[in-house]
Amino acid sequence: MTDPEPPASRRALRTAGVGAPSSRRRARRAARRRRALVLGGAAALVLWGVIALTSALLGAAGEQDAVDAQSARSAAPVPWATALPVPTMVGTATAAPSADAQPSAEPTEGICADAAVAAALAAGDDVAVIAAAGGAPAFREAVARGAAPCIDLADPGRIWVVVNKLRAYAVPDYAPSSLVAAGSVPGGNQAILRADAAAALQSMSDAARIAGAEFGVQSGYRSFGMQQSIYNAHVEQRGVAATELVSARPGYSEHQSGLAIDVVPCGNGCGGLDDLAGTAADQWIRAHAWEHGWIVRYEDGYTPITGYAYEPWHLRYVGVDLARAYHDGGFHSLEEFFELAPAPDYAD
Ligand code: DAL
Ligand code: ZN
Repeated sequence: MTDPEPPASRRALRTAGVGAPSSRRRARRAARRRRALVLGGAAALVLWGVIALTSALLGAAGEQDAVDAQSARSAAPVPWATALPVPTMVGTATAAPSADAQPSAEPTEGICADAAVAAALAAGDDVAVIAAAGGAPAFREAVARGAAPCIDLADPGRIWVVVNKLRAYAVPDYAPSSLVAAGSVPGGNQAILRADAAAALQSMSDAARIAGAEFGVQSGYRSFGMQQSIYNAHVEQRGVAATELVSARPGYSEHQSGLAIDVVPCGNGCGGLDDLAGTAADQWIRAHAWEHGWIVRYEDGYTPITGYAYEPWHLRYVGVDLARAYHDGGFHSLEEFFELAPAPDYAD
């Protein structure tokens, strides 16, 4: 407690000879000190009380906050099951989205709205159609997502046709309009093909021969009637169930399109279909056939998708552009390539 009398005054009185304080003055000063002590103590008590009360109130509130937080934690969903809040852009939260920000609807016609695509289709130029669509990967993607209604995967006259156990020829005895001899490849004089496929077979055969992996052709185009005979012969030999894994029913074979061949290994003479697996010709075909527009249609391990057992000899012509996209994309069946339903069995 500070003394209510300023020290300077006391010193001034003493220095001025006023001398020692009298006993009365001492008594008054002592009384003042006692009053000051009492008043100061009371003020301190009041201040302490205010501080204590405030602390108590604040402490209680803090505990309640902790309880509330604990309750909230126990009631809250686990973080990984909680959707993150959508961030709000400052200054744009209430602004109407611009037309550019709206998701654009998929054009119904997709690549088919392109005049060059339409013209190439009308001209029957499949290679030009694919080029006008932006190349084979873009073509494939558009067809797969349904953005190419003018591309009919059931049209047997197109290099992109897909024939399988669920995709029969709409005209059961369909035949290509023009077929030519398979060319100067071993066995080529006994097989006929579509002209574009025959030219691609010739280039593939030449390349394989130069690489020391020569092969020959055992089968090309087959009519509905020819496929019927082959299928029936298999049934007689092994029964229906086993036949369905190795031979298509008439009206369901890729051979009927003129775009498929069966090849055999050739060296000193040519072997049979079952001799192909593991030969130089087989290895070369698996590595290089795509460069000439051909794919191995029925790969090992894809029976649940294609419906047929592994046939390393059955090659399908799709053109160099689609074959490259098929190879580069790591596809193993045309069903996957065009995102079609697997076809392990016939519908009936
Ligand atoms: N071997 C194939 C599946 C066919 O008969 O067309
Ligand atoms: Zn075949």
